[in-house]
Amino acid sequence: MAVIAEMLGVPDADSHLLRPWSAEICLMYELNPSEEYAQRAVKASVEFSEYLRTLSRERRAHPRNDLISALAQVVDEGQRLTEDELIGTCVLVLNAGHEATVNVTGNGWWALFRTPDQLALLRSDHSRVPRAVEELMRYDTPLQMFERWVLEDCEVGGVRVPKGSELGLLFGSANHDPAVFEEPDRLDITRGDNPHLSFGAGIHFCLGAPLARLELEISFSTLLRRFPRMELLAEPGWNPAYIIRGLRELRVRT
Ligand code: HEM
Repeated sequence: MAVIAEMLGVPDADSHLLRPWSAEICLMYELNPSEEYAQRAVKASVEFSEYLRTLSRERRAHPRNDLISALAQVVDEGQRLTEDELIGTCVLVLNAGHEATVNVTGNGWWALFRTPDQLALLRSDHSRVPRAVEELMRYDTPLQMFERWVLEDCEVGGVRVPKGSELGLLFGSANHDPAVFEEPDRLDITRGDNPHLSFGAGIHFCLGAPLARLELEISFSTLLRRFPRMELLAEPGWNPAYIIRGLRELRVRT
């Protein structure tokens, strides 16, 4: 959160507001959210939008070296960017910019603790971290599903898909496709050919993939180096969610 807040230009003093707003808004990403979740998500969206509106107007008048200032300079309510688009973009970047990365960290360490031979392999050679990060993202996919609306009649794998259909793209399932991955249900941190779909595909391919990879490589490497004997204290529980798949907490002893 600190990385993404700094990139955008949210003042340090306000950064504690962001994580709760993001968590509340993400309640809406789940399937069939309850009325209570919907209300909490709307309340957080309104507060967050108003916060960004004030901040972006301030940065439009007094630009600094950050993303909100850069976007605020091109708000022209027409050709390039409207103020609402600026706000939507900042909310997206702030939410997308940390939720999944947090979950890859938790899910990833939990997968490693459950597979001691792979954890030992990683501990014996930290240069394996980049490949391990890709494998952990494949093995326990942090964003399970995104949707698409079909714009023209087509056929996928012999199934006719009519225009107007709503499709759920199951990234977690695709990442365990035996036609693509050898022994897909085995965690193999040395897996070389790993065309996983955890960052999506096509024109909406994750904008932040290079940043996420960098953050994950740094955090896994740092924890391996600083706490070489880190061990699990208790089996973790999952957040009661499907699309954004992550642990409530991961208790370890360093
Ligand atoms: C491990 C971490 C991450 C995962 C697994 C992830 C996954 C994804 C996926 C699956 C999509 C495609 C959504 C779709 O097809 O509808 C996406 C889009 C996006 N991601 Fe990420 N993401 C991660 C980190 C980040 C970070 C760090 C940022 C911000 C810097 C970010 C910003 C975005 C944005 C802005 C989009 C929308 C792109 C578009 O619609 O053109 N993501 N991400």
